[in-house]
Amino acid sequence: MLGMLQAYKKARKIYLKTGRRTKFLTFFSLLYSCHLRETVSIGDGTKLGYNGLGCVIHDNCIIGRHCIIAQNVTLGGRKFHEGVPRLEDYVEVGAGAVILGGVTVGEHSIIGANAVVLKDVPPYSVAAGVPAKIIRTLRDEKSENGGVLGLIYSDLTDKCMIRFMPYALCMEGV
Ligand SMILES: CC(C)(COP(=O)(O)OP(=O)(O)OC[C@H]1O[C@@H](n2cnc3c(N)ncnc32)[C@H](O)[C@@H]1OP(=O)(O)O)[C@@H](O)C(=O)NCCC(=O)NCCS
Repeated sequence: MLGMLQAYKKARKIYLKTGRRTKFLTFFSLLYSCHLRETVSIGDGTKLGYNGLGCVIHDNCIIGRHCIIAQNVTLGGRKFHEGVPRLEDYVEVGAGAVILGGVTVGEHSIIGANAVVLKDVPPYSVAAGVPAKIIRTLRDEKSENGGVLGLIYSDLTDKCMIRFMPYALCMEGV
């Protein structure tokens, strides 16, 4: 059985080739209770926790490479505001977070569980709360190696194992 992202990836290929939306993706959307259409752009290495259970991703969203999106996340439009959310590379979005309107979440940022993000989040930030505020910055200016929070992350896998250990084993990627 395909996971949600695997189904998306197949549908995306067809969409890019023919411009057509596929019906089988609807089946997987129902199966995983996840709205993710082939019109969304998702970079390589991005993962959905629990097969995207409960996620609603706006059809025009752009999601970068190596992001992690937990369950129950909404990336959607906002009334009277133009645009839809864009996640840059290496963004992690906690469970239940809601990101609305044409906001950009900068690379290597983390959105806390249940946050409601209504403004741009600069790179290397942790944003949490309702409405979300920056509670911490991740770039360790003093570190010679540019490490994050003083830890040296050689790649995302290390990083997500540290931050998202509880569900790192339940993720599937593109
Ligand atoms: C936002 C998050 C990344 C912060 O982690 P952290 O940098 O280790 O921060 P801390 O736990 O030290 O908390 C720092 C402060 O932010 C608050 N905070 C932490 N997470 C918060 C959240 N999601 N919403 C609101 N406030 C939050 C803490 O209460 C604390 O406040 P205080 O300084 O007044 O006591 C983390 O709490 C989080 O939400 N991770 C998402 C995990 C997730 O969704 N996993 C999916 C499991 S299936």
